Amino acid sequence: MQAITIKDFEDWRAVARVLIANATRPSEVQLFEDDGQQALFAEDPTLRQAPTAQSSFGVPSRFLSLAESVGCHRAAGRWDLLFRILWRIKNEKKNLLEIETDDDVLQLTKMEKQVRRDAHKMKAFVRFRKVVQDGQEFFVAWHQPDHRIVRRVAPFFSRRFSGMNWTILTPDECVSWNQESLEYGSGVSRSQTPQSDELEELWRTYYASIFNPARVKIKMMKSEMPVRYWKNLPETDLIADLLAEAPRRVEEMIEQHEGFDKTADDFIKRFPNQLMTLSALKQMAAGCTACHLHCNATQTVFGAGPANARIVLLGEQPGDQEDLTGDPFVGPAGEVLEEAIGSAGLDRRELYVTNIVKHFKHTQISSPESSRPPRGKKRLHQKPNAREVRACRPWFDAEWSCLKEAEKLVCLGATSAKAVLGPGIKLTDQRGRVCGSDYCQQTFVTWHPSVILRASNAAARESKMRELIEDLVLAKDSV
Ligand code: URA
Ligand code: SF4
Repeated sequence: MQAITIKDFEDWRAVARVLIANATRPSEVQLFEDDGQQALFAEDPTLRQAPTAQSSFGVPSRFLSLAESVGCHRAAGRWDLLFRILWRIKNEKKNLLEIETDDDVLQLTKMEKQVRRDAHKMKAFVRFRKVVQDGQEFFVAWHQPDHRIVRRVAPFFSRRFSGMNWTILTPDECVSWNQESLEYGSGVSRSQTPQSDELEELWRTYYASIFNPARVKIKMMKSEMPVRYWKNLPETDLIADLLAEAPRRVEEMIEQHEGFDKTADDFIKRFPNQLMTLSALKQMAAGCTACHLHCNATQTVFGAGPANARIVLLGEQPGDQEDLTGDPFVGPAGEVLEEAIGSAGLDRRELYVTNIVKHFKHTQISSPESSRPPRGKKRLHQKPNAREVRACRPWFDAEWSCLKEAEKLVCLGATSAKAVLGPGIKLTDQRGRVCGSDYCQQTFVTWHPSVILRASNAAARESKMRELIEDLVLAKDSV
């Protein structure tokens, strides 16, 4: 199996051309997203050779235009899908695209439509705000597209607003127009539309980062410009911020305005409370797209357990196996949990087990330290951030209101503990005792089972496991 990282559509095209010329089958390659990290494995330098007479071949232009659009989709599997279709057009059916019921074609057209919609949305909803910098007017907008469409849509704005200097900030990448050319820079952290001053400040930070050597060669900067002179320069503040503070400030700004346009609440149809059941909720959650986490996950993993459970266990988010099976805590962490539950004298069948975030957040690339090719597509867990937790939390609130007999809540790990007891909570301080929460008086926090899996040695593993069991016993016996 050959693993190749793909930067963008043009890169995919170059690679696909060579793969087809070499008669490489789709099952023999995996095309990974290039997330800007350095290459993780040595790649064959001939992969991106210029086309030769033998390697160029005709492809229906409709496929190319669909492919270019789908290249902007956020789904990690898009490059593989495009190559599979290309291969099938070349080797199986020239008219594959006309077979609308074909699974690959269906997927392709669905993704193309999603990208097209998203591009329309961007054209319609971007609103600029005027900022004055060094006596010049700039227009700044924030937008959070669902897909990677900035480069696709930017030319539209350059035509439409050709006589202005403008910047559109997005989490993926930012684009500026200086009335002559489009310049692209890296994205700024996600946030919901920052309001007026925040937007301005966000832009100033970005402005600073593109006009000063921000991808910052600090050493070089210091050697070329001794620090003692910095204070005399007009951009002193910006430079100082950049070096010391900017990432934190942007993060803080975003913290204040965190949120997606929607939260799970928008998907919880307001049933009269007495009609709300866990299975009705589970069905609604299956269609939740409130935050971007659904894009790369297989399915929503809802809570599981009896509606009359008295003890509720709340984890962080589903892992790889949970994502595939649709049930919480069925993978390695689930096994540890199951063992601890048993040792604590509890019966898992009587507990309600769920997660504060219902979709699997992960990255598809193997560990950056590894220089060997990845064995298959390993999906590495990524911690959900505060915004994702906030978007998803209404599902847990709704679950809790359906669990009429629930009287004890055990938070497994810091993510759910923070969601329930506030961001300042420390597991080491709070575990082993009862803490009241908005959900119930008898709230407990304890280690996440994956901490036990990751423990560096047997002694640490045993002590964490013992504590997890103790905490479950405490929850069981407390009155
Ligand atoms: N980790 C969690 O927090 N929840 C699961 O369901 C699985 C692993
Ligand atoms: Fe909805 Fe939660 Fe999934 Fe986000 S993680 S899409 S809020 S179910």
